[in-house]
Amino acid sequence: QANAMWGGRFADGPDAIMQAINASIGFDRRLYAQDIRGSRAHAAMLAATGILSNKDAEAIGEGLLTVLSEIETGGFPFRVELEDIHMNVEARLKEVIGEPAGRLHTARSRNDQVAVDFRLWVRDQCDAAAQGIEALMRAFLAQAEAGADWVMPGFTHLQTAQPVTWGHHMMAYVEMLARDRGRFLDARARMNECPLGAAALAGTSFPIDRHMTAEALGFDRPTANSLDSVSDRDFALEFLSAASICAMHLSRFAEELVIWSSAQFRFVRLSDKWTTGSSIMPQKKNPDAAELLRAKLGRILGATVALFTVMKGLALTYSKDMQEDKEQVFDAADNLMLGLAAMTGMVADMTANRAVLAEAAASGFSTATDLADWLVRELGLPFREAHHVTGTLVALAEGKGCDLPDLTLSDMQGVHAGIRADVFDVLGVENSVRSRRSYGGTAPDRVREQIARWKAALA
Ligand code: ARG
Repeated sequence: QANAMWGGRFADGPDAIMQAINASIGFDRRLYAQDIRGSRAHAAMLAATGILSNKDAEAIGEGLLTVLSEIETGGFPFRVELEDIHMNVEARLKEVIGEPAGRLHTARSRNDQVAVDFRLWVRDQCDAAAQGIEALMRAFLAQAEAGADWVMPGFTHLQTAQPVTWGHHMMAYVEMLARDRGRFLDARARMNECPLGAAALAGTSFPIDRHMTAEALGFDRPTANSLDSVSDRDFALEFLSAASICAMHLSRFAEELVIWSSAQFRFVRLSDKWTTGSSIMPQKKNPDAAELLRAKLGRILGATVALFTVMKGLALTYSKDMQEDKEQVFDAADNLMLGLAAMTGMVADMTANRAVLAEAAASGFSTATDLADWLVRELGLPFREAHHVTGTLVALAEGKGCDLPDLTLSDMQGVHAGIRADVFDVLGVENSVRSRRSYGGTAPDRVREQIARWKAALA
């Protein structure tokens, strides 16, 4: 039979397949708390403005709390024929309190209702993401603090470039994560306007007070254009974009962990808690959590592209296409939170192999730049010439199968007569990192300054 909520002009009910494609209750039930919160604020406002009697508003407010507890204790009868969470809640309210339930939808449409519910949900996720990111920042900070002066190779092109400190590398992720957190908080601030009261699209002839509902729901103000209010999903796109960038950062560190934990690198040991074994190869300890984190960006970015594609061709205002916004955001949010938690655990539990890092830092001619700088500073060579002399020395060492510090002084003087024995001081990696004291550089003192700054900022 025809739908109880909107079936007045219908003689027949929907086809079963229509119901299957049309219903969103299977996923938008996750909005129940926001839906009930929004409805309670709306009912209170209707009473305050005299649109609804206090008695009816009270019955509605109380009844909604009953419905809420039914949902939370698992006793709520979700019905697919009622399409979505909004109509499921309202229909149940009618069963609980009777006739006044039908007055709740005065001066409201599902279009502004879903817009406010979804904003409330995404707003919470911005807060949750910011918190999850802070926890991960703390884990990186702890690693940085433990190894502020441990030397390791810094890479470009995944080729040894210059020695850096472990602390410096960890703090690079703290910077990335801080920007990620900022993106979620910026998005939150921008989305914090209340669309409730836009009604279907044009506003309403009832004397509603949109400032009152906006305030009751923790928004800064009501949205200023009713058409925009019911058709805007940029708040969801901003969340997804911020999530994608954050997941990309997680994926980059995940990739480093996969490389670093290999038998060829042995830079870090991942704990048993974040690795798995092989059913055939007894020696294996696979970095599965890191690999999955690397893959998570795929689905989060996929969700972002999916929603952009849904939205890009929609004429104003609401179209049912927009119902497809929620599954994308839910999936992206779930996987981002899971990824942040997993990365936090993995970072907290990993052990850097200090000796291996130091050995790797000293190999691959990592202090060639220090040698070139010495030639400039001590012998007054133009940098280009110093670069050439150093390159010749690297080729010499490579030919002998040794590293730069293993060359003899006479080897070196054969390439440039002015080289003195004190050149060997700058060929050591400890001195190399200590010398890079420019602001933001890898010198342990500089790294410790950054650690202190971030610890204070997060306290
Ligand atoms: N379930 C719908 C959604 O998620 C609610 C809005 C329905 N509005 C409408 N005009 N059919 O988008």
